[in-house]
Amino acid sequence: MQVRKFHLGSALAVLAVTAFANAGSRAQAPSQTVPQSPLSAMAPWMNASLPPDDRADLVQAQMAQDEELTLVRGYLGVAAPRTRSPQPAWMLQNLPSSAGYVPGIPRLGIPALRETDASLGVANGRHMRPGDQATALPASILTASTWNAALAHDAGVMLGTETRDKGFNVLLDGGVDLAREPRNGRTFEYTGEDPLLAGVIAGEVIRGAQEQHVLSTAKHYALNDQESGRFVMSANMDEAAMRESDLLAFEIAIEHGAPGAVMCAYNKVNGVYACENDLLLNKVLKAEWGYPGFVLSDWGAVHSAAMAANNGLDQESASVLDKQDFFAEPLKQAVASGDVSSARLHDMAHRILRSMFVHGLFDYPVSPKPIATEADAAVAERTAEEGIVLLKNQNNLLPLAHPQRIAVIGAHADLGVLSGGGSSQVIPVGDDARNEILVGGPVTNVPKVGVQVPSEIMVYDPPAPLATIRALAGGASVAFDDGTDVARAAAVAKAADIAIVFAQQWMREGRDVPGLSLPANQDVLIDAVASANPHTIVVLETGGPVVMPWLAKAAAVMEAWYPGQGGAQAIARTLFGLANPSGRLAITFPQSEAQLPHPSPSIAIQSSLDVNYAEGANVGYKWFEAQKLTPLFPFGYGLSYTSFRYGGLSAQGGTTVTVGFDVTNAGARLGKAVAQIYAAPPAAGGRDVRRLIGWSKIDLKPGETQHVSVTADPRLLAHFDAAAHKWHVAAGNYLVSLGESSATAAAYAWVHVDESTIKP
Ligand code: BGC
Repeated sequence: MQVRKFHLGSALAVLAVTAFANAGSRAQAPSQTVPQSPLSAMAPWMNASLPPDDRADLVQAQMAQDEELTLVRGYLGVAAPRTRSPQPAWMLQNLPSSAGYVPGIPRLGIPALRETDASLGVANGRHMRPGDQATALPASILTASTWNAALAHDAGVMLGTETRDKGFNVLLDGGVDLAREPRNGRTFEYTGEDPLLAGVIAGEVIRGAQEQHVLSTAKHYALNDQESGRFVMSANMDEAAMRESDLLAFEIAIEHGAPGAVMCAYNKVNGVYACENDLLLNKVLKAEWGYPGFVLSDWGAVHSAAMAANNGLDQESASVLDKQDFFAEPLKQAVASGDVSSARLHDMAHRILRSMFVHGLFDYPVSPKPIATEADAAVAERTAEEGIVLLKNQNNLLPLAHPQRIAVIGAHADLGVLSGGGSSQVIPVGDDARNEILVGGPVTNVPKVGVQVPSEIMVYDPPAPLATIRALAGGASVAFDDGTDVARAAAVAKAADIAIVFAQQWMREGRDVPGLSLPANQDVLIDAVASANPHTIVVLETGGPVVMPWLAKAAAVMEAWYPGQGGAQAIARTLFGLANPSGRLAITFPQSEAQLPHPSPSIAIQSSLDVNYAEGANVGYKWFEAQKLTPLFPFGYGLSYTSFRYGGLSAQGGTTVTVGFDVTNAGARLGKAVAQIYAAPPAAGGRDVRRLIGWSKIDLKPGETQHVSVTADPRLLAHFDAAAHKWHVAAGNYLVSLGESSATAAAYAWVHVDESTIKP
């Protein structure tokens, strides 16, 4: 393509500098029409009616090789005292602290990439931007437990909007690693154990965010399924199993969300680092899935220049965290020597620019403005309300019927609701430091921030459940005991009509939890409280499953996960029946760790760790079915204050499975059913384990019936044939079940499916 040489000159430079310096001022909300920027008249690539590939070609035709190199190397966006070289002064002086930054090219109007974490709100870990608060969404495991794709999309819209409001244009969200290791310290950041549910929910969050003209990621590709040894471990699994589990979750998330970038993971996969893994990046992601966006590395996940570039990495993030700035001088030399072709460098820059055009980074420049606190909080609360899972409700103790004396016990219920730690940490609206607990570790003096920042804090999102329970308790007296003295707490419980004991398990990035038992004597506390008061309700604030030795004694159990800043309202509204629980578990709760595929956690031994996932695609409930194990609570499970009746199941075969059925609200309250369809392919001598092939969340009035129809994506019926690189649907009779969890069925049908192969 012939393009004349073009220089934007000073007008653009001024614009770029102004946008940069404007942190804190008000700006335009993204509009649905492309605004007439002064650039559009000047630069051909600013013509928004051209396809993004053409726009990228046009701008690249003007770029020198050094400018392409600028786009492929990222900076850490925050001053970090212990990195191998200091952060550039120009960056620290001009930019608000954040996860990362990639300079733009003002000469050509190419905006900088201003990167922020992550899936639970605009993160501000360790108060890197002192005083900057954002709306804390619930943890992703809760969002997945809503089984509500529209709600996930709304959460994404809110997330994308606040990302822009805070002056960022890249959102590092979209965590979709499967929960195959429930002790994984990031279980809360991911969307559960099933590839369909995880992929749809993560994909919808990404889609919503990107509609706001920010570029979002899907991460961490792939098999970053535990934190122990994450920098050195190799996740080992045969290719077919990967394709049917963890990679399928990514594939579905990418189809739903079309993220502008995919973040490759820290770990190795079958012995090769994920960020230089030809199979994962070139062959599967880019060739087979036809992914047109770019691959950016996780922070400190790059180990080579030429190898990484040739094997599919397009951008090195926060290069100061790697052993060298691989995509700076070493990559330049590799291109000069021909180890990396200039065509490949061109492709790397093209992918980045293309995604920037697709997601509006050129056409809708960001500039900060205050967040819409109330509207955004409402989204967080709605999500929390639909993702809380009621696990037990003996004799319909819930919703509460006008108790006179309520005891609230434990888990800092007087402060707020717990959130998970690490790079996704949001400093919530209303944070006043009294809702934070210093966990320990050294206190770091961060130069840029100029304040003493604790290395680890547990953040309790306000408001406090104690306050929201009091607000809805009518005239009842509500006593609080912090639970530190078990005998005292039991006495407080005994003196009340109802005891609500909060229990917590803190998860954070970088460290797996040591086991699935509640820490710090909480099992003993719950046991004592439940023994003292038969009307004990346990509210769990955990990032994943826990075991419950006290379950028989507790009258009711509610899994609230980390419910975000609408969490306390959602908990209280559910307790008092203003909300009818409709969350269903996105992850299996085992009876004990002995039931897990890996009963003992895999811990890094010095510099290496092989984790052999022999269970392959049988993650979570599939493992339990294959091993004929009964979990404590199965995937898909959750109670409602009403009940649902299912009938008239019809199933049609052929190239895929389509089922039709009726759902009736058989109770007296408005409620939401989550009708789940599972199918088991035929296998030698019987049938394979069942997989989720679809679901429908249906809002029903008392007595109302709705007809629902669900058609399966045929990949969910197939096995992956690694030799042929195709999905293979076997001919035969498939067992289809309709039910309210992976372990129970209201109706079964057999249906004949024809043989087919599907290209990825
Ligand atoms: C995490 C990523 C995160 C990045 C930037 C890494 O440690 O694994 O999820 O996006 O840091 O903060």
